[in-house]
Amino acid sequence: MITLTIDGVEVKGNEGETILEVARRNNISVPTLCYLESLTPSGSCRICVVEVTTEKRGKKKTWVDASCVCPIEEGMVVQTKSPKIMRERRVILELLLSRAPVSEKLLELAREYNADPRKYTAVDKGEANCILCGLCVRVCSELIHSYSITTAFRGVRKKVLTPFKIAQDVCIGCGACAYVCPTGVIKIIEEGEKVNVNNWAELDVKRCRECGKLFGPVIQLEKLQKDYSLNIDAELYDLCPDCRRKILENQITKTSGMWSTE
Ligand code: SF4
Ligand code: FES
Repeated sequence: MITLTIDGVEVKGNEGETILEVARRNNISVPTLCYLESLTPSGSCRICVVEVTTEKRGKKKTWVDASCVCPIEEGMVVQTKSPKIMRERRVILELLLSRAPVSEKLLELAREYNADPRKYTAVDKGEANCILCGLCVRVCSELIHSYSITTAFRGVRKKVLTPFKIAQDVCIGCGACAYVCPTGVIKIIEEGEKVNVNNWAELDVKRCRECGKLFGPVIQLEKLQKDYSLNIDAELYDLCPDCRRKILENQITKTSGMWSTE
């Protein structure tokens, strides 16, 4: 066990844990934009910065670090809300807002940290609305294993793209990228019998065999059927969730009826 102090409170953590993990476990709030517990941290947005002080052989060292990637050390002293940190977060937010000026989440944080949303000229006239946090790319590769999107180019030209601008064969339309995106820029739009995933892929949608309702991308249902042995009758994949539930409920009622004593 490692003992450290966060905001004046003595806390404990395990070897290899980050400051953010220990802080959250102890109900100490630190803002994050590019961090998600189930993904490898990237330390890209810097909004989670904290002030860290360590003392080794009588020498004190203080620096500012991203808490989501900074491992804890014995005797470390961490400040998550010092005046310096509040200033740093304000500047980081003003810079991030130049990339995503209409992001509600960023504007909310800007109000909290007294940041000026118009301090810097908007990159791409604000159209990209992306802070390049990489969450969409990481969720697609690390959790969904689709590898449909990636980042391309460098500096102000850097963007999230599909390899060769085509994701048709690998994107399953799960929507995880849109779900995790902190700026809400990724749009998944149903267009008749197709679903358009942020103009990265256009996928066919399956119709329910029972009620005829459109309910899910064909490629996603095929992947579920192929990759996960869910022990589900293959025919159930042709049904929308409502019809599937009804059929399963009927089956259960029939089976339990067999054992009924009435
Ligand atoms: S699209 Fe959203 S999730 Fe992806 S890098 Fe940009 S801000 Fe992050
Ligand atoms: S949340 Fe830590 S750098 Fe983004």
